[in-house]
Amino acid sequence: MPDTSRPARHATLTIDGKEIQLPLMSGTVGPDVMDIRKLYAQSDIFTYDPGFTSTAACESTITYIDGDKGELLHRGYPIDQLAEKSHYLEVCYLLLYGELPTAAQLEDFEHRVTMHTMLHEQMQNFFRGFRRDAHPMAIMVGVVGAMSAFYHDSTDIADPWQREVASIRLIAKMPTIAAWAYKYHIGQPFVYPRNDIDYASNFLRMCFAVPAEDYVVDPILSRAMDRIFTLHADHEQNASTSTVRLASSSGANPFACIAAGIACLWGPAHGGANQACLEMLKEIGTPDRIPEFIARAKDKDDPFRLMGFGHRVYKNFDPRATVMKESADEVLDLLGVENNPVLQVAKELEKQALADPYFAEKKLFPNVDFYSGIILEAMGFPTSMFTPIFALSRTVGWISQWKEMLMDPSQKIGRPRQLYTGACTRDYIEVENR
Ligand code: SDX
Repeated sequence: MPDTSRPARHATLTIDGKEIQLPLMSGTVGPDVMDIRKLYAQSDIFTYDPGFTSTAACESTITYIDGDKGELLHRGYPIDQLAEKSHYLEVCYLLLYGELPTAAQLEDFEHRVTMHTMLHEQMQNFFRGFRRDAHPMAIMVGVVGAMSAFYHDSTDIADPWQREVASIRLIAKMPTIAAWAYKYHIGQPFVYPRNDIDYASNFLRMCFAVPAEDYVVDPILSRAMDRIFTLHADHEQNASTSTVRLASSSGANPFACIAAGIACLWGPAHGGANQACLEMLKEIGTPDRIPEFIARAKDKDDPFRLMGFGHRVYKNFDPRATVMKESADEVLDLLGVENNPVLQVAKELEKQALADPYFAEKKLFPNVDFYSGIILEAMGFPTSMFTPIFALSRTVGWISQWKEMLMDPSQKIGRPRQLYTGACTRDYIEVENR
């Protein structure tokens, strides 16, 4: 709930001599908001905010970002503490239910997730309907959307129990869907999840095991994978989360809404940035070509941007990138790939960009996608699997925000307005008279 301990405050707008009072609302922390819900009724005027850079679309208690301080809180807990001391399924519990679980609650939650990791066997037909070279994100969008055709008993959003079952099913099945999209892409047989290993190890095993031999997950890789899941779990009202909320506002079923979020995340400016970043590093090729690309990023007439740098909200550093960088060093040391040419370019690019006044002035720092791509590349994932892993991780954030929106009495179907600059009313002209 907004902080009502302070005296009521208002903003006063004067439009054409008429004064309009708009209430100011305060949260627990962060900027106050001006409640403009009655502005149009009182002034016949809309607000204008392309990209919603200054607009709060909802009230939320889940995640808070301070872009200047480089702070990210999940239900009040700093991301660096969660990444260091917690693990992904515990963070899922925290995001979904608002508090850290007791040992018994965590055991029950992990058991419920484990019991839902398999897919309906007939869903394999969906994977096999795609071309082998289909992008795994195309497969994920299709398969997740199709889940509403298989799990009818968890599509009624008015039923709290069905919302709970859909939440668990999506968190549990995303690793299987992502891993099977990868296996189908490379022409290897599907590997089924196991109930005797942890969530991150299960995903790595479903991706890299083959029936011909046993596969044991290295605990350092499993820990790094789990940390990547945790660091991507939720991030306030980013583009894909806002897509899930808008889709949900029409009453669409949870699987359709998450499929919409996956589609939005795919864009290179958003979740597709880690794939775009690695492809950029490969295009740069050698450290001596870095100045050429930095010059292009600074050239206003060149649409090129340094993938993995900058952020809509973080105008200092991305706290997730700091933690991710530690994991990158651990994984590179373990795998002995610190001499990998792509990774050499990454380290040199980071060094030169951070030393360049342009990036300092524009507050463009490496974001979470810069380092996650490096780790995933070192682990042996193709770049096409980077965004599916992001989608897997973000599912709990989408679901938590989806649940919060459905239970928010102030929420209604989303319907932004516009500034119309098209043609005024005019009569139809027959084709022979044009
Ligand atoms: C994610 O919203 C979220 O929370 C997203 C995310 C999440 O967890 O959900 O954090 C995940 O999407 C991380 C961001 C991944 N995207 C990339 O790495 C792609 C590269 N970055 C850019 O596309 C860009 O930085 C954005 C899209 C991330 C932000 O775009 P903005 O808000 O337009 O950037 P800005 O307004 O802060 O830019 C300020 C200036 C601009 O120049 P001017 O017009 O003022 O002259 O910096 C320039 C931009 O052109 N700029 C860059 C740049 N990013 C911004 N110049 C070169 N390289 C870049 N990467």
